[in-house]
Amino acid sequence: MQLLQFLAWASILATLGVFAQCPFYSNYASVKHGPFSTGRWNLSYHRPIASCRTFPSQDLEDTIKRLKHVIVDPDLFRVFENSWPSTLDTTIGWRGLANGTDEELTFVVTGDIEAMWLRDSANQLQAYTSLLKPNSSRNSLASVFRGAINLQARYILEAPFCNAFQAPDESMIPRKSSMNSDTITPSFDYFKVFSCNWELDSLASFLQLSVDYVTATQDYEFFGKYNWTNAVQTILSTAQSMTINSYAEDGNWLHTPYTYCAPYGGTPINDCNGSPHKGNIGLIRSFHRPSDDACTYQYLIPSNMMFSRTLNASAAIMEKIPNHGNLTDWMRSMATGIRTGIEKYGIVRDPEYGNVYAYEVDGYGSANVMDDPNIPSLLSAPFLGYLDRSDKVYQNTRKKILSRDNPYYSWGPVITGVGSPHTLPGRAWPMASIMTILTSEDDEEIVKSLTDLVGSTDGFGVMHESVHSHRVGIWSRQWFSWANGMFGQAILNLEKRKPHILKMGFQ
Ligand SMILES: *[C@@H]1O[C@H](CO)[C@@H](O)[C@H](O)[C@H]1NC(C)=O
Ligand SMILES: *[C@@H]1O[C@H](CO)[C@@H](O)[C@H](O)[C@H]1NC(C)=O
Ligand SMILES: *[C@@H]1O[C@H](CO)[C@@H](O)[C@H](O)[C@H]1NC(C)=O
Ligand SMILES: *[C@@H]1O[C@H](CO)[C@@H](O)[C@H](O)[C@H]1NC(C)=O
Ligand SMILES: *[C@@H]1O[C@H](CO)[C@@H](O)[C@H](O)[C@H]1NC(C)=O
Ligand SMILES: *[C@@H]1O[C@H](CO)[C@@H](O)[C@H](O)[C@H]1NC(C)=O
Repeated sequence: MQLLQFLAWASILATLGVFAQCPFYSNYASVKHGPFSTGRWNLSYHRPIASCRTFPSQDLEDTIKRLKHVIVDPDLFRVFENSWPSTLDTTIGWRGLANGTDEELTFVVTGDIEAMWLRDSANQLQAYTSLLKPNSSRNSLASVFRGAINLQARYILEAPFCNAFQAPDESMIPRKSSMNSDTITPSFDYFKVFSCNWELDSLASFLQLSVDYVTATQDYEFFGKYNWTNAVQTILSTAQSMTINSYAEDGNWLHTPYTYCAPYGGTPINDCNGSPHKGNIGLIRSFHRPSDDACTYQYLIPSNMMFSRTLNASAAIMEKIPNHGNLTDWMRSMATGIRTGIEKYGIVRDPEYGNVYAYEVDGYGSANVMDDPNIPSLLSAPFLGYLDRSDKVYQNTRKKILSRDNPYYSWGPVITGVGSPHTLPGRAWPMASIMTILTSEDDEEIVKSLTDLVGSTDGFGVMHESVHSHRVGIWSRQWFSWANGMFGQAILNLEKRKPHILKMGFQ
C-alpha cells in the first residue's frame, strides 16, 4: 500500500448525499471513542454509527451478537467487533449498474486510500464468505460480490498490467489524474487507473473472488452473463506474455511487454526490465510484490502459487460456460506448468532447515529467501490452497519464516512476527500474525499471536499495517480494511476449529 497517498475519502462521501451528515471516517478513526472495552487494554469502539455504515447487513450484526457470547475476553471481543465489519461499514464506496444494462457494479476502496485495489477488494470481501448466500436481490451481499467481480473484469480489460483503479464513470465520483514520476509501459488512462504495478497476484485475486462467490452460491450462470470470460482470456494472454526468456535464440536481449521505472520503491534495473530471467519454465514474472514494492527477482513464488491454484479452481467455472474455446484447457495447463516450475526452480536448500521455498527466483539459480507479510506470502501457501499444511517443504519454510533466520522477522515486547521492507525492519505486521494463526495447529502459537494482536492496537482496537515491536505508539495505517477483515476471518475460523481458545483470557 502506498502510505504516502492519504487521499481524501471526502469526495466519495460528498457524492453520496445520504452520508452528508457523517464524519469522514479517516477523521473519525483517528480519535478514540467510547464506550471503552472493560479489559486491561481499554479499547475504543471504532465502528461508525449505524446510519453512516456503507453496507448495512443484518446477518453481520447477528454474527457479532453471537460472538459476544462465544468470546470471553472483553478486549478480544472488542477487536473482533471493530475489525471484522470494517469493509462493509466503511469501504463500499459506490454500488450501481453499468450504464444502460443490468450489470451490477461495486466500488470497494481499501480504507484510507480512495481507490480499488484488485487484491485488497477481493480479500476484503473474502472476510464475509461465511455470510454469503445465493440471492438475486440488488440489496444482498451476493450483489456486492457480483458487482465487485464485474467491476474487476472491466478494470482488467481496461489495463491488465495495473493493480489499482479509480471509481467507474457511472458513479460520478470525481477523479484525479494519477500521473506521477513513474515511467511505465504500456501506457494507460491516468483517470481510470490509480496505480499500475504489475502484480501477478492482482489477477489471481480476481479469480479467487470468483471462486469465493461461486463456492458459496453455486451461481455458475452469473459468469456467462457479462465479461468474465473475456477477462479470463486477457488474464491468460497477459500472464503468458510474462513468461518470455530475456534473450532470443540469436542472443538479442528481449524486453518484457511491461516495463517499470520509478524513483521510489526500487526501480527495476536494465532499462526498467529487471534482471535477466530464464524464460519458458512455467513461472510467470511479477514486477511487484503484494506489498506493491518492486521484486528483487521477478519469479515471485507465492504469487505463482496463488495464480496456479486460482486458475485451476476457477477452470471449474469456465468449464460450465458454453463456447469458451480453449480457455478451460488453457487455465488448467497454465496451472500445471506453474506448479512444475515452482517445484523445479522455486525450492532451495537451506543449511539449517533443509529444502525451503524461496520468496523470489530468476530461474538461473539466484534466490531471495525471505517472506513478506502481505498475502500471498509463503506463510499463506496452505491458506491459499496451494499445498497442505503438512507438506515437508512448507513446514521447513514456515519454521524459518517464523524465526530470527528470516531477515524481516521482528521481535520485542509489543509484537513478534514477520515484518516487511515496505515499512522498516523492527516492525511486525499484524497481517502475518493473523496468517500464523490461520496456518497453525499449535495452541500455544495461536494464543501468543492473538495476545500480541490484542495488545498492540495502541488503544484503537483495530488492526494496523505494521507495529513497532518495542513501542506500541509507533504503527502505520489508521484504517486498513483488509487486515481488519482478516482478523475477523481468523476469529470465525477459530470458532470452528479451536473454540476453547476463544474462551481464554488475553489480559
Ligand atoms: C480509556 O481511554 C480513554 C481515551 O484515551 C480515556 O479517556 C479513559 O480515561 C481510559 N479509561 C481507563 C479506565 O483507563
Ligand atoms: C436477499 O437479500 C435481500 C436484501 O438483503 C433480503 O431482503 C432477502 O431476504 C434475501 N433473500 C433471501 C432468500 O435470503
Ligand atoms: C462488456 O461486454 C459488453 C457486452 O456484453 C460490451 O459492450 C462491453 O464493451 C464490455 N466491456 C468491456 C470493458 O470490455
Ligand atoms: C450513459 O450512456 C448515455 C447514452 O449512451 C450517455 O449519454 C452517458 O454519457 C453515459 N453515462 C455514463 C456515466 O457513462
Ligand atoms: C489457447 O489458444 C491461444 C490462442 O487463442 C493459444 O495462445 C494458447 O496456447 C492455447 N492454449 C491451449 C492450452 O491450447
Ligand atoms: C487442479 O485441481 C484438481 C482437482 O482438485 C487436482 O486434481 C489437480 O492436481 C490440480 N492441478 C494443479 C496444477 O494444481
